[in-house]
Amino acid sequence: MNDPAEILTKIPDYEHHEKMNQTSPEEFDHIVQNRRSVRVYTDEKVPEEVVQKVLEWGLLAPNSSNLQCWEFYWVRNPEKKKSLVEALFNQPAARTAQEIIVAVAHPEQWKKTRVQMLKHFEDQGNVPKSARAYYEKLVPIAYSQGFLGIWGVIKKIGITAIGFFKPIPREPTSWSDMKIWAVKSTALACENIMLGFSAYGYDTCPMEGYDSNRIKKILGLPRKTQVVMAISVGKRDKKGVYGPRIRMPKEQFIRVI
Ligand SMILES: Cc1cc2nc3c(=O)[nH]c(=O)nc-3n(C[C@H](O)[C@H](O)[C@H](O)COP(=O)(O)O)c2cc1C
Repeated sequence: MNDPAEILTKIPDYEHHEKMNQTSPEEFDHIVQNRRSVRVYTDEKVPEEVVQKVLEWGLLAPNSSNLQCWEFYWVRNPEKKKSLVEALFNQPAARTAQEIIVAVAHPEQWKKTRVQMLKHFEDQGNVPKSARAYYEKLVPIAYSQGFLGIWGVIKKIGITAIGFFKPIPREPTSWSDMKIWAVKSTALACENIMLGFSAYGYDTCPMEGYDSNRIKKILGLPRKTQVVMAISVGKRDKKGVYGPRIRMPKEQFIRVI
């Protein structure tokens, strides 16, 4: 019988060689430095293929257990876009945007993507047993919280007890843990998206100044989803960047211990 936790500890007897392409740190620096939160955009359109490509880059972000608990809504319908801008309090970053993408975390989507992972393994054939065991056994234990969160409470008690003796994953044991879990991965995809647009020479602004209930209604989202952020896209107007970038001294945040 395979230990489903083995995937975390054992190096699989499996080789997959993937070459790393040569890139330039200078170019990456330009992409990162060029990304500013832009609040006023020009009338210049963003080509459809650029948005498509950038959204695909979003999907390449690292994500917890590769369960891809996210969705990205590129709101193109004029009526929906108008309502979305209103839900974003009509802020200039939304109002003047050429395109708006809404990133949504789906804490319950793992139930579907877990099955897709297992199907993928089955089709591939040569996947280590520990990987299958992980998605078959460990994922449901880890990410289910049960009716009224009762399984989560039971897990919390068990984890606390075992945790006295050895390291053990402490979360998720509640619905709010599940939201954090899904939001983390979705936010990483958002950064891929913003840097992606920056690489193409387009600007973005991440926004959480919105009425999430209204956005969920506009997008027809189920109750158990979390709007992570809206990202507006376009070309910066000369008034688009409100000021020089401000960051506190790095020593305040980067700790080498
Ligand atoms: C999660 C998140 C939510 C944000 N919400 C808004 C917003 O609603 N409106 C806005 O103008 N800027 C918003 N911003 C942009 C920040 O104000 C901005 O990133 C910060 O001031 C740093 O500036 P920079 O992005 O140009 O480096 C948000 C940023 C993040 C990451």
